[in-house]
Amino acid sequence: CGIVGYIGKRNSQEILIEGLKKLEYRGYDSAGVAVFTSEGLKVKKAKGRLAVLESELDKKPLEGNAGIGHTRWATHGKPSDVNSHPHTDNSQKFSVVHNGIIENYLTLKEELIAKGHVFVSETDTEVIAHLISSLYDGDIVIAVREAVKRMRGAFALGVLTEYEPDRLVAVRLASPLIIGVGEGENFIGSDIPAILEHTRNVYILNDGEMAVLTRDGVELMTIEGNFISREIFHVDWDIMTAEKAGFDHFMLKEIHEQPKAYRDTMGSRISPDGRSVVFNELHMTTDDVKAIRRIHIVACGTAYHAGLVGKAVIEKLARIPVETDVASEYRYRSPIITPDTLVIVVSQSGETADTLAALREAKRCGARVLAITNVVGSSVAREADDVIVTWAGPEIAVASTKAYTSQLIAFYLFALFLAQTLGTVPADEIAATLAALNKLPEQVEDILAAKDAIKAYAEQIAAHEDLFFIGRGLDYAVALEGSLKLKEISYIHSEAYAAGELKHGTLALIEEGVPVIALAIQTDLFEKTVSNIKEVKARGANVLGIGYAGDEELQKSVDRTFAIPKTLDLLAPALSVVPLQLLSYYASLARGNDVDKPRNLAKSVTVE
Ligand code: G6P
Repeated sequence: CGIVGYIGKRNSQEILIEGLKKLEYRGYDSAGVAVFTSEGLKVKKAKGRLAVLESELDKKPLEGNAGIGHTRWATHGKPSDVNSHPHTDNSQKFSVVHNGIIENYLTLKEELIAKGHVFVSETDTEVIAHLISSLYDGDIVIAVREAVKRMRGAFALGVLTEYEPDRLVAVRLASPLIIGVGEGENFIGSDIPAILEHTRNVYILNDGEMAVLTRDGVELMTIEGNFISREIFHVDWDIMTAEKAGFDHFMLKEIHEQPKAYRDTMGSRISPDGRSVVFNELHMTTDDVKAIRRIHIVACGTAYHAGLVGKAVIEKLARIPVETDVASEYRYRSPIITPDTLVIVVSQSGETADTLAALREAKRCGARVLAITNVVGSSVAREADDVIVTWAGPEIAVASTKAYTSQLIAFYLFALFLAQTLGTVPADEIAATLAALNKLPEQVEDILAAKDAIKAYAEQIAAHEDLFFIGRGLDYAVALEGSLKLKEISYIHSEAYAAGELKHGTLALIEEGVPVIALAIQTDLFEKTVSNIKEVKARGANVLGIGYAGDEELQKSVDRTFAIPKTLDLLAPALSVVPLQLLSYYASLARGNDVDKPRNLAKSVTVE
């Protein structure tokens, strides 16, 4: 969910709506605002996209210069007007926006019902509004603090009360929240883009901290009430990078930004002579690296798929055993985490609750934690021992593209760093791999230039309801990501299969005309993959082969091909995924879907 809040001298409605637009990637099941008007605290909310709320507010504006807003990704209670935020208590004097989950909300709700409170929604957030109102005794800060002490879970809150129209209270416990500091006005937001139009000066709240905003100042304190002084964080990136810049969709823009993202992520991490990797930001000594006995890579969604590539690359180059886990499973399978385990958490946003919980579990067990994240100052970045930032820039489309490929670049660099430190790869081979890495951005540009061919194919498959991706080794890891991308935004059901495993079951689903996308890039596995392609062809499949340019053997075995430029097999995922991203984009477009905001999903999932 996304939270925004404003207190100042300007009309708040537009500031809230514009802020929410920047946060819509966090959820878009419903939206709402609460504003101090001359008639008191007034709430307007609506199910559906933010545009629905916006048009209602156009008809009947809420005038006032302080307010809070929310865009929701449903957890407790289905998307509906009544379940939308902000929530109020029975007196309608308190208003709350909330991101996260209150685990003990049912117990609290029962207690409040026993005291005569009447609830209108199924949400845990409404319980917070009632709880604060029941504890209020003339000071909203004390009431919020008392309420928070009774709440269990992970959350970020924005709270207003009609009794104190000059104060806006914000609290953070495990869900992200930032404070924007302006002149004569101050802001809260779940993320920086929400307020960047108004100020570049922000405070990033830590867990267990709260902020009290007035028009003229911001006080930071712990939820126990101890005041904190903190330096302002100055945001140096531009709002333009968070806008579409002439592309029809953020996703298409972000796909096209990959060459830059690759270059920026490699940046100064390759020595000027191109022979070694330099990670000035890592605090790992040679002895620290030598002490690593095993590596666990933990992540969710697309970042997990980057971790699958990471595993293969680290094992091949550095010869350290690696396991890759989905974060929501990791903690609960009693993983063997020892002080000589390096746990690598991968997260674009750095705020995914499952990944953060895995990070904390790893630290609790004494492991060293390295974060690969796209957001400087995110929770994951702040809690890890070491951080590799992927310099992809803000990613807005829900379907991750440039963040994934930048994560691959980060893994290549880190694996090479391990290899050079441990001496597992000869210096010349490291230099050759770095040279090949340097060529990737240009090669991605070549793939993007051929996007019309992918578009035409995407329009054909858009009519299908089932599709298969097959590949072996690293091609399989990419197949998984290609399949996820297609499902997320086109809603075509697809499955990624290890090509050799197909005959053990899924081959039963191949019949006349079923589209199969076969990745046949990995040279060592090529012949075996071609045999698997023949198996599906023999059952009537219509096969698109993705392979290196000029591969005649592949051309002969499939119905059509899409070629990627020649690179080292190990680096091929950073190229072969690009046509698959384009394929899902154009298939989604052909089906008339909302490409950037697929149904039921959210970009940043801060609940477990
Ligand atoms: C959500 C998004 C996915 C993303 C995953 C992990 O489910 O919809 O696209 O891969 O979260 O996000 P993270 O920010 O941790 O990389």
